[in-house]
Amino acid sequence: MRRKLAAGNWKMNGTGAELAEVRTICDTHQGAGVEILLCPPATLLHRLSEAASSAIATGGQDCHKAENGAHTGDISAGMLADAGASYVILGHSERREDHEETDQDVREKARAALAAGLKVVICVGETLEERDAANTLDIIAGQLAGSIPDAVTGDTLVIAYEPIWAIGTGKIPTLDQIGEVHDFIRSRLEQRFGSGVGRSARILYGGSVKPGNAAEIFGVSNVDGALVGGASLKATDFSPIIEALEKA
Ligand code: PGA
Repeated sequence: MRRKLAAGNWKMNGTGAELAEVRTICDTHQGAGVEILLCPPATLLHRLSEAASSAIATGGQDCHKAENGAHTGDISAGMLADAGASYVILGHSERREDHEETDQDVREKARAALAAGLKVVICVGETLEERDAANTLDIIAGQLAGSIPDAVTGDTLVIAYEPIWAIGTGKIPTLDQIGEVHDFIRSRLEQRFGSGVGRSARILYGGSVKPGNAAEIFGVSNVDGALVGGASLKATDFSPIIEALEKA
């Protein structure tokens, strides 16, 4: 019942030369049985949205909480939508760390994104110290409670569980650990929003998803897809991940 989602986060990578990768992904996955989302740097969003056709949705990697105004260097949710985006990633751990974004900031940005008609991919995840101290579920509970605005619907809310220690490191949690957190997130969403929204919001796993480990991760309960960093930059890496999700 939940449409599976293969999302790519290009982070601060990619120029016009990489649009060829997007065309390859589009050609290969026209009519795919899963939803495909690419979130390039803002400079590429418009061109990528035009190159991507209807086979691929596009999104931003952050937005400002205000509609417009004196915020040099920032981009509003409405501007992302105007450039062709239908999603925005919010609260990625790199934003939380590099820009000291708090749960409250993420919630306000998400509110602005929803008002502009965007769907939100809200990221949560623990550090290795927090996992070692057996605090993972408390940390996730706090981030969910603080970062998600009340106005979400089952269609507009996507949660990405990204253990910080698994991002870009080649390490991933055990499948049991992934399942435990995804089941926990599902139950928290149902508790807060009721079973309608709680059961239809999608929950992605992110952190070192590769062609070699995607299938086993997609077999875990309540994993509705992936948020992929490094392996989303090349069609030869991203395509097998999309195919594994189609088969899951
Ligand atoms: P990675 O990044 O796949 O390169 O580990 C995932 C992410 O940060 O979204």
